[in-house]
Parts: sequence; structure tokens; C-alpha cells
Amino acid sequence: MYDLIVMWEWIGFLLRWVHVITAIAWIGSSFYFIALDLSLNRNIKGLADGEEWQVHGGGFYHIQKYMVAPSEMPEHLTWFKWESYFTWLSGFAVLVVVYWFGADLYLVDPQVSNISSTMAIFISGGSLVICWLIYDFLCRSKLKNSPTALMLVLYLLLVGLALFFSNFLSGKAALLHLGAVTATIMTANVFLVIMPNQRVVVADLKLGKVPDSKYGSIAKIRSTHNNYLTLPVIFLMLSAHYPLAFGTHYNWMIASIIFIIGVLIRHYFNSKHARKRLPNWTWGLSAILFIIIMWLSTEPFISNVENTSLGDQNSSLDTKFARASGFNEVKDIVSARCTVCHAAEPAWEGLHWPPKGVVFETSEDIQLNAKFIFLHSGLSKSMPPGNLSGITENEREIIRKWYRSAKKLGS
Ligand code: HEC
Repeated sequence: MYDLIVMWEWIGFLLRWVHVITAIAWIGSSFYFIALDLSLNRNIKGLADGEEWQVHGGGFYHIQKYMVAPSEMPEHLTWFKWESYFTWLSGFAVLVVVYWFGADLYLVDPQVSNISSTMAIFISGGSLVICWLIYDFLCRSKLKNSPTALMLVLYLLLVGLALFFSNFLSGKAALLHLGAVTATIMTANVFLVIMPNQRVVVADLKLGKVPDSKYGSIAKIRSTHNNYLTLPVIFLMLSAHYPLAFGTHYNWMIASIIFIIGVLIRHYFNSKHARKRLPNWTWGLSAILFIIIMWLSTEPFISNVENTSLGDQNSSLDTKFARASGFNEVKDIVSARCTVCHAAEPAWEGLHWPPKGVVFETSEDIQLNAKFIFLHSGLSKSMPPGNLSGITENEREIIRKWYRSAKKLGS
């Protein structure tokens, strides 16, 4: 049974690895093309729309842009789409492996809401689809004639979504899902709008027809959205490592402000690439917003951290870890070796909040975090760090035995 857990952990890690790599590839090429497009010299003679000289890796590049398309289909044409598709596919796989299979640990937090794991998975998967449908509808509605109004409406919906997630999912999952919804919209923009339009253009070229310019402009709105959404998505994807971002009361406001900061910073760089006047004010405003975020995060922790008893409220708590033999010893070990740091108010010098938001103060805490205790201090020796609290080999063995025997009990 625990062999499966080890395998599962590694599969999760492998998928994350792929996800990070493909995301770097996607964002890298997207940053490159934004910068290229904005910096094109458009005062040129000939058929091309704009051109740019670049130097990199020992050679000079001379790039020309044809809007909507060149007069003939070129022999070799490189598409940029798999970076985006694989980022989504690997990201979705991580979501399933980590968050759906570990729904009771990652998606649900009884102190946030009492929903079942199944319900949480439903919210998780459903939100990806529904949010795309709403977004796509709005982009095709009358709002498309006013890109700024469209962005404002979309932003308000995002804030609402943040509030919704933070009311039903654990803090970690709330921010992660806000990122996942946004990233799904970005990939769907590529897959369902930008690429199909591009294919129509290519097909017209092959037939020797002049493609309609509307295809270029539809793609432009979607790719502008993608451009501005990149930075907030990266923040949200990393936020699970930072309890101050996801685990505090106003996590939804923090996430909403991050979207504004991301847009401001993109605006600065877009202006820079376009060789326009630099909007230096964006840095000042971003700094102020960031200070507001820090201040918002001083509100009490919600997630897994407040020293409240779970009580009867959490009747779905899986009790096998408490029933398994060795539980009482494990409780003693954990309170001797872990709670100096992993408590709502850690006694460890210099710690002001529980590391990573992980707390083991009550029996329930231990049951809920059994897998993590097993992985970090039974199977591996990553905890306690540097064995600062002096856990013994024998105690690690007790943790391993307890966990394995609980697994045999089933739920
Ligand atoms: C001296 C303080 C200290 C002690 C004692 C300690 N931890 Fe930790 N723990 C930390 C810190 C710091 C982190 C955050 C590490 C990081 O940021 O990567 C952490 C993180 C964790 C995590 C989360 C890991 C993750 O990546 O999400 C788990 C689980 C954990 N500890 C379990 C334990 C267990 C079980 C014990 C007792 C056997 C224990 N810790 C003892 C300081 C401590």
C-alpha cells in the first residue's frame, strides 16, 4: 500500500516537473513574441507590415511580420501551440493526481466549509469549464467593441470567483483554482480561437485567396488577454508554498489585487517594448498595492492553522489513523518533536507562524496530516529539519508502523 503512495508521490512530482518546463517554454515564447510584435519597425517599404533586427547567440536575425498573411504560403511554417497545450495538459494532470485524489487533504478544509470531497472535485472541474464558457460568451458579446469595458467586467467576475473559491475550498486550493481557471482560459484561447482562426487563414492562402483581416483582430483581443494574465497566474500557481498568501482571511482580496499588479507590470513592459514613454508610475502603484497585500495578510489564518477544535462539525474525518495501533505513541512523538514549530503559535525562537501553515496540535490535526507526517518524518528524514528536535530512529519506525497499519484498516 505504501509502495503505491511512494509511486503516486513521484508521479505527482514528475507531472509537476513537466508542467513547470512546458510553462517556461510557453511563457518564454509568449513574452518573446509580445516583445517582438511591439518593437517592430513599421515604417518599411515592401509587402511586409513591420520588421525587426535582433542579435542573439552569435548571429543576426531579420524578422518580418505579414499581417494578416503573406501573399503565398511559405514552405516551412513553425507553429507555437504545443507549449500551451502541454502546459494545460500537465497542469490538469497535477490537479487530478494531487488535488482530486487528495481532495480531503488539499481541496477541502472543514474550517472553511463542510462540503464533501466529491462536491469539491465537482467545483474544481466544473469551474474550469463554466468559467471558460462565460468568458468566451462575453468576448463574443457586444462588449467586444470596447476592450476596456470587457476587461473591467472580466475583472469583476474574477473577484467574485475568488470570493466563491475562498468560501468553499481550502485556502491553498482557492488560489490555485483561480490560477487554474485563468490558465484554462488562456490555453482555450489558443486552442479554440487563435489556432482555428489561424488555420482558416492558412487554408485561404493555400487556395490563393486573400484572408479576411477579421481573423487577425479576433486573435489579437484573446492574445492581449493572455499577455496580461500571465503574471498573476504565475503568482497564483506558486502561492501554495506561501501560507501568508493563501492561508489568511483575505486571501481572495490578495489574489484580486495580484491581478491588478500583474496588469500594471505588463503595461510597463509593453510600453517599453513599444519604445513608448515609460509609465514609471506603474512601479509606485504596484509597490503601494503590494504593501496593502502584506497588511491584508496580517489578518488571522483561516486554513488549517487556527487553534479551533474541529469537533463534530467534521463528521467525515477518516478515523482509521486514530484507530490504528500506535496512535497514542505517535501523538506523543509528534507533540515532543514537531509542535515546537508546528503550532498556531510556535515556541521555536524566530518562528512567528507555523511553517507552511502546517499544525499538529490536536488528534484531528494528526489524523488529517497523517500522510504528511509519514512522508516527511517516517519515510524520509526531511522533518524535523536538521533533526533539530532530536527524533530517534525508533520513533520514525513507530510512525511508519502506525501509518502502514492504518492503511491496512481501510476507511
Ligand atoms: C525546528 C522547527 C521544525 C520542527 C521541529 C519540525 N518542523 Fe516541519 N517544517 C519546518 C519548516 C521550517 C518547514 C517549511 C519547510 C519549507 O518551507 O520548505 C516545515 C514543513 C513541514 C511540512 C510541510 C512540507 C511541505 O513541503 O509542504 C510537514 C508535513 C512537516 N514540516 C512535518 C513535520 C513533522 C511531522 C515534524 C515532527 C516529526 C516536524 N515537521 C518538525 C520546521 C519544523
